[in-house]
Amino acid sequence: MKLYLMYGGRTVEHDVTVMSTRSALGAIDYQKYQVIPVYITHQAQFIKGLPLTAPVAAEINLKLEVADHAEWQAAPALSLGTKFDFDEITNADDAVVFPMIHGTFGEDGTIQGLLEVLNVPYVGSEIRASAVAMDKIMSKIIFDEFGIPQVPYVPVLANHFEKAADKQAILDQIAEKLGFPVYVKPANAGSSIGVSKCLDKEALAADIEAAFKYDDRVIVEFAVHKARELAVGILGNNHPKASIAGEIGKKQDFYDYESKFVDGTTKLIIPAAINGVQLADVQKYAITAFNAVGGAGLTRADFFLAEDGQVYMNEIQTMPGFTEFSMYPYLWQASGVSYPELIDQLIQLGLE
Ligand code: DAL
Ligand code: MG
Repeated sequence: MKLYLMYGGRTVEHDVTVMSTRSALGAIDYQKYQVIPVYITHQAQFIKGLPLTAPVAAEINLKLEVADHAEWQAAPALSLGTKFDFDEITNADDAVVFPMIHGTFGEDGTIQGLLEVLNVPYVGSEIRASAVAMDKIMSKIIFDEFGIPQVPYVPVLANHFEKAADKQAILDQIAEKLGFPVYVKPANAGSSIGVSKCLDKEALAADIEAAFKYDDRVIVEFAVHKARELAVGILGNNHPKASIAGEIGKKQDFYDYESKFVDGTTKLIIPAAINGVQLADVQKYAITAFNAVGGAGLTRADFFLAEDGQVYMNEIQTMPGFTEFSMYPYLWQASGVSYPELIDQLIQLGLE
């Protein structure tokens, strides 16, 4: 079986996809799969091969228990860098694609659409689930319908924010409904890019306008005081399993891009120190959310835990990070599914 590991692309999370791919490359069974990395440049060219050295990837994998790297260090495909020919995977019955791409043009249904058109099996959710989960406005509406608790929020559209009077009315509505502080987020982005924590009404317009740089649709959410952040992994297709819960130990106020992927100041606490009811709740809501969007393969569901013990769903990631700082593979490792087994199961679920 040929495994095409696609990564990179026109996403603000480009570098994270590279880190995820480096990490996953150390956990693939090279006896079972012939691995063909396909790097998508920022200009959307598909390049076969991988601009990575084995020692770098090996170092990144140190913290996860992964297979021996010898096979892929020797794999000739890794040193190639040729134009990828889509005919290689069109109507393929001996190939599967793992689109290890987070955010826009990867986690939002677009690459999934391309793979559907090419008629090749792939890992993870299909178009609808990917697009809905990616969009913070759409997903909140659906989660609400299925009774999943969420913090109060106000969606804001760029063209409603153009006229001074309308803009003022929106700012007033937010202040009245949510109070402060609030989070301001582009509806479609990822890895906390474009997100800000807004402390007062004076800063709100500028924060919303900053988020409009990433998307014409923005969501403003109530910020739970001293919220703890929890995550649960989902694995499966029609009858998915939930992992144990993990917690993000934070030094700073919120889990931003730098702390997630750059400076390593985020600590993953697995299992999360929560009670049995809270664990059962987050697992149940994670599965409901996955089913509500019609997910497949994998998802990481993220929650806030308030000081009073109430849990709120934050969002789900249909292609969560697989980096050395990422929660999803560690959650499964701690739930009894090793990283190499996890990658293998995800591929097999993609082939179902
Ligand atoms: N969006 C990043 C990759 C994550 O949530 O893991
Ligand atoms: Mg994301």
